[in-house]
Amino acid sequence: MLTHPVQFGLAPMEGVTDFPARIWFNQTGQPDFLWTPFLRITDTFPGRAIPQLYYPEIRGGGSVRVIPQVMATNAVDFVRAAELIFNENEASASKVNRLWVDLNCGCPSPVVVGGRAGSALLQHPDAMGALLDEVVTRLGSGRVSVKIRTGFFSADEFPGILRTLLGQKLAQVAVHGRTRPDRYLGRARHDLIQVAAETLAGIPVVGSGDICDMVTASGAMVAATGASSWIIGRGALRNPWIFRELRTGNSVTIPVQAITAAVQTFAWLHELYWNDGSRLLRLWSDGVFEGCAGTDPDQWHRLVERISVRGAVPGRRACARTKMIWNYFRSSLPQGMRDGQVLRATNLEDLVGAIEGLARDLQQTEFKAIYDPSWDWVYNGGGRPGANAVPNLGGLT
Ligand SMILES: Cc1cc2nc3c(=O)[nH]c(=O)nc-3n(C[C@H](O)[C@H](O)[C@H](O)COP(=O)(O)O)c2cc1C
Repeated sequence: MLTHPVQFGLAPMEGVTDFPARIWFNQTGQPDFLWTPFLRITDTFPGRAIPQLYYPEIRGGGSVRVIPQVMATNAVDFVRAAELIFNENEASASKVNRLWVDLNCGCPSPVVVGGRAGSALLQHPDAMGALLDEVVTRLGSGRVSVKIRTGFFSADEFPGILRTLLGQKLAQVAVHGRTRPDRYLGRARHDLIQVAAETLAGIPVVGSGDICDMVTASGAMVAATGASSWIIGRGALRNPWIFRELRTGNSVTIPVQAITAAVQTFAWLHELYWNDGSRLLRLWSDGVFEGCAGTDPDQWHRLVERISVRGAVPGRRACARTKMIWNYFRSSLPQGMRDGQVLRATNLEDLVGAIEGLARDLQQTEFKAIYDPSWDWVYNGGGRPGANAVPNLGGLT
C-alpha cells in the first residue's frame, strides 16, 4: 500500500481515452478520475454544441470525475468551447461540481505544432500568459487548467514557463516531465514536477510520466512529494488493472476468463461507440456501467451479455482498437502470452480464441500483470535500443 493518500487518474490519450475506453477503465480498476483526449477547436469547430459522444459524462449517469481537454491556439476559441461545455453542464439534471476545462499545452505532434497548438504554446511563455489571463478573466477563477511539458526546445525553458503560470487562477497544472523533443523517449523528469509543485505554491500540480506499477509509482512520489495527484497513460494500457493495484498495494491476479470477457467488452464498447452511439448512451444512462467488474469473470460476462448484439460481430475498426490494447497489455503477461498470433486475428472470435489458446498451452487459468521494463522501447516511439527499428507506439502516434 502506498503510504500517503495520493489520487491516481487516467491520463488523456488521443486515440485511446475516448468515451468507451473511459467506461472500460472504470470497469477494470476505477481510477480516481479520468481525462478526455484533446478536442481540437478551430474557429468553425465545434459549431453550436460539443459532439455528443465526446463527453457524455457531463450529463450525469455515472459517478466518475472526468476532466475535459481542449486544444486551441487562441483565447477566443478556447472560451467558446469551454462555454459550450459549461452550458451543457448547467443544463444537465445532475451537474458535475467543480468542473473546469483543461488546455492542452503539451502535444508534440508536428501537425499540431505546425497549427500553433499543443506544445507550440510553450514556445512563447509571454503569449501563453496573455492567453491564460484572458481565458481566466472571461471564464472565472478555477475554471481552467493546463497540461504542459517541461519545454519546447529544452528543459532550460521550464522556469520561464512556471513564472508565466505563477499567479494565474488555475484549477491545476499537470506536468508531463519531458520536453517536446523528448516526445515519449527517455525517463520523465520527476524532479522537475517537484520544482513545479514548489514554484506554483497554491496551484495543485499533477505529475505525469512513467508510472507502470507500485515501484515506479513509489519512486515518482518520492521524487515529487509536492504533486497532489498523478496520472497514468501507457502504464494503464500495459496493465489496465493498475489503479486497483495501486489502491490495494498488491499486484492483481486476473483469471483468463476475466481477461477474455474484458477484451470482448472493450471491442463491443468501441463497436457501439462508432456504430450505435445512441444505444451506448442509453446503456450509460440506464446505469449499466456503474460499479467495477475488476477481476470477476461473472461480472465481465454479464457486461458482455448486456452490450453485445446477438447475431452480430464487432467490425474491423473495433477489432483494430482491441488489438491495440492487447498489444500493450501482453507486455505485462508471461512470455508465452506475448505471441503475435493474437494480433494477427481478423475478428473478435479469433482474437479471443487465440488468447485462450496461449493460456491453455501454458496451462494457466490466471495471470498476474507484471510490469516488464525491457519492453518499454515498444511503447516509447524510439525503436529497439541499438537497432534500427521502426518506431512503434502500438499503432498509435
Ligand atoms: C497515445 C498517446 C496519446 C496522448 N494524447 C494526449 C492528449 O490527448 N492530451 C494530452 O495532454 N496528453 C496526451 N498524451 C500524453 C499523456 O497524457 C502522458 O502525459 C504521457 O504519455 C506520459 O505519461 P505515461 O508515461 O504515463 O504515458 C498522450 C500520450 C500517448 C502515449
